Amino acid sequence: MLKETEIDALIVRMFDEIRFTREPAGLYDPLRYMIQIGGKRIRPRLCLTAYSFFSERFDEGILSPATALEIFHSFTLMHDDIMDRSPLRRGVPTVWKKWNEDTAILSGDVMLIDAYQRICKAPQAVLDRVLELFSRTAAQVCDGQQYDMDFESETEVPMAGYNKMIGLKTAVLLACSAAMGAIIGGASRTESDAFYNYGYQLGMAFQVADDYLDAFGDEKVFGKPIGGDIVNGKKSWLTVRTLEKTPDKAAFLAAFALPADTPEQKAAKIAAVKEIYLACGVDADAKAEIVRFTDRALEAVSGIGFGPLKTEVLRRFAEKLVGRAK
Ligand code: IPE
Ligand code: IPE
Ligand code: MG
Ligand code: MG
Ligand code: MG
Repeated sequence: MLKETEIDALIVRMFDEIRFTREPAGLYDPLRYMIQIGGKRIRPRLCLTAYSFFSERFDEGILSPATALEIFHSFTLMHDDIMDRSPLRRGVPTVWKKWNEDTAILSGDVMLIDAYQRICKAPQAVLDRVLELFSRTAAQVCDGQQYDMDFESETEVPMAGYNKMIGLKTAVLLACSAAMGAIIGGASRTESDAFYNYGYQLGMAFQVADDYLDAFGDEKVFGKPIGGDIVNGKKSWLTVRTLEKTPDKAAFLAAFALPADTPEQKAAKIAAVKEIYLACGVDADAKAEIVRFTDRALEAVSGIGFGPLKTEVLRRFAEKLVGRAK
């Protein structure tokens, strides 16, 4: 079994070796930019970790699909940043800001196609299953992104609706990454299903953490502007939970409806909303929710009987993921 440090080194090499130097430069430069500005590479790491439980052979049959997961993810971010009007990603200007929206749309499109080409390098014996899993996941991410945008114009979203939305926009891709690694490695159906559920629950924890950091993180580390969700009227975990427990719903809705057109208005709105979040204690609630989802992730794989060494790898992976500061 490959060690975690060896998987990390493999990932660095995989992305160092990718060259998007094709013409026209206007299409491929933003793509190269997006991949080279980094990111945590969580999805390929999860895929390779799951794979390492079943196989020792790290050839193109696994490395290409693992790379595809990161390229697909980066494509969703390129389009997400247009949809969320986000100026900053991974600490640098977003593609639509640095170039323009048309560029971000088309470069994103070509990334999706590039991802499919790499997925198709999965071993022939499992290609049908891998393609079905990936295509289903990709469509679900679009479903989730639509719910996310629909929710902006709704006053209140129940927690069940929120969970469904983040399950689609975020958790299914982590689930797919874990399951795909297991499938290509030769896992049984029960084992790949367990990895799917592990990835799904981790993805839920991950998105709640992202929502928390969007309000309470450090911009320099997080790499995205703090308060973006509040400015955009996103129904984040913090918003949904506040609406469940605040004694003064009208006051919260009034703060959430403040205008955010100028930099001064943005700052005032973010401060007003965060003050209510803190008064309601939803920051602590979010941390508890992250722990609950992480526990569920570990439960999902507990029945497989992986033994203490492998179980510890999965526990550490989960801990690192949700203990993230960015
Ligand atoms: C950002 O994903 C989008 C979410 C699902 C929260 P990451 O936090 O994995 O982004 P990078 O790839 O590390 O930049
Ligand atoms: C992103 O959700 C989910 C996808 C890109 C599919 P967010 O909009 O919260 O992600 P960030 O915060 O911009 O990274
Ligand atoms: Mg978004
Ligand atoms: Mg966004
Ligand atoms: Mg976010």
